[in-house]
Amino acid sequence: MNLKQQVLIKLETNRGISISGAKLAKELYVSRNAIWKAIKSLQDEGYCINAVTNKGYCLTDSNDILSAQSIIKYLRDETKDLRIEVFKTVSSTNTVLKNAAEAGESEGKVIIAEEQTGGRGRMGREFYSPPDTGIYMSILLRPTITAMESLFITTAAAVAVARAIETVAGCTASIKWVNDIYCYGKKVCGILTEGALDLENGKLKYAVLGIGINVIPPKEDFPDELKKIATAIFKDNDYTADGKSRLAAQVLNHFWSYYESLEQRKFMEEYRRRSFILGKEINIIAGDVTKKAIALGIDDECRLIVREEDETITALSSGEVSIRTTE
Ligand code: BTN
Repeated sequence: MNLKQQVLIKLETNRGISISGAKLAKELYVSRNAIWKAIKSLQDEGYCINAVTNKGYCLTDSNDILSAQSIIKYLRDETKDLRIEVFKTVSSTNTVLKNAAEAGESEGKVIIAEEQTGGRGRMGREFYSPPDTGIYMSILLRPTITAMESLFITTAAAVAVARAIETVAGCTASIKWVNDIYCYGKKVCGILTEGALDLENGKLKYAVLGIGINVIPPKEDFPDELKKIATAIFKDNDYTADGKSRLAAQVLNHFWSYYESLEQRKFMEEYRRRSFILGKEINIIAGDVTKKAIALGIDDECRLIVREEDETITALSSGEVSIRTTE
């Protein structure tokens, strides 16, 4: 950990309280000048650090910069060992982490960005990831499970995100099978789990769990094609500083507790309870073909059980569905 990060931890743990340069220098075994340079560099990055003569440096309460330190302080003991790295902007956190996984990075690495220039969604789609309004996060996992079982990583993540959103933003969060989170009737989060298979034993080599959450509305609103279907978990004025850090930490806390006992599938009951398409008329979209059906339930393998128009009952394990409206 470099000096800048060490200084940030000291300021974060004393948020709102001034610490003198001399004290920081003594505790971190460096010169006051080195502390000053670290503070200057943090201020240049956008951290609101007040420097008051005879008092010292103070990270203000209204600071809203996402950093590993600002997230770690909200993590439970069980999640504190996750290795979090935060970037202002990356192409795609999933791509960065997949490259790291291929290069041998171990489980528990977390990459978070405040903007993605090439955010990726399911089915080869783009995931809109503008600066400063969302959280784009990927977690590297190395579970010994089959590709089929990896669906439960996504399922557990969906419940973890829904819980985190409710705690931090206070809005009701529902799940649209298989991996979208909805608030206020629109999508606020998408999840994309990618991985590599070990062909020798049919188990995963690794999985990268990618989660994108719209936290506040973009300044210029969502692009026209998304306006009807996407929204953010906070409205313009009800966002409080630190919300992104708390949200990221809550997602990690909830997800990790499910992941540690993935085989027990403790999240399945809640997943079903939060699923809002059950009992509804839906369209099943498979490539160019769209079929009408009724969503009947979700089985223990997280397959969507549907009744098609010809009364056939089918279990879907992947794909896309949309609610049918009368328009
Ligand atoms: C979807 O809704 O189709 C899934 C979207 C997944 C987006 C997240 S954001 C973090 C991670 N990095 C990516 O490029 N995609 C995932």
